[in-house]
Amino acid sequence: MKRYIPFILLAALGLMINACYYDEVLELPQDNEPITEDVSFSSEVQPLFDQSCVQCHGGNLDIPPILESDVAYNNLINEGYVVPLDAEGSILYRSLIGDGVALMPPSAQWNNQKINTVKAWIDQGANDN
Ligand code: HEC
Repeated sequence: MKRYIPFILLAALGLMINACYYDEVLELPQDNEPITEDVSFSSEVQPLFDQSCVQCHGGNLDIPPILESDVAYNNLINEGYVVPLDAEGSILYRSLIGDGVALMPPSAQWNNQKINTVKAWIDQGANDN
């Protein structure tokens, strides 16, 4: 029996390494194309909200944060959903990857391009641009 112990330990180690790898794949959007150019809130981020968020975060449902174009920026900053320069610490970004808060939009995760646009906008300082 004793001589099997190293193999059992090896197998356990393999499982642990795999588990870590899996966590990473779940949390980080894959095929990351880092966005280097400046992201504009009004012309790149807000249109994404208009497409897939305002039907719940606005209109009749009015679930906070309200993401309609006239109020979205102020709500995100003033109500603490966005921490400028810190996407990982921002509830808005974390909702897009389902990290510790409900995944948004609830129907299906956005593609990486959209997620990375919001991430870059926050990491660049979440400007009202
Ligand atoms: C089908 C309706 C629906 C759509 C579409 C939707 N949401 Fe939500 N959202 C909700 C509901 C309901 C909650 C609050 C309760 C919950 O599920 O935790 C919520 C909560 C949130 C929160 C707060 C999370 C927290 O824990 O404080 C954020 C941020 C958010 N949504 C962002 C978005 C964004 C960004 C989009 C578009 C990409 C979006 N939502 C699309 C229904 C929706």
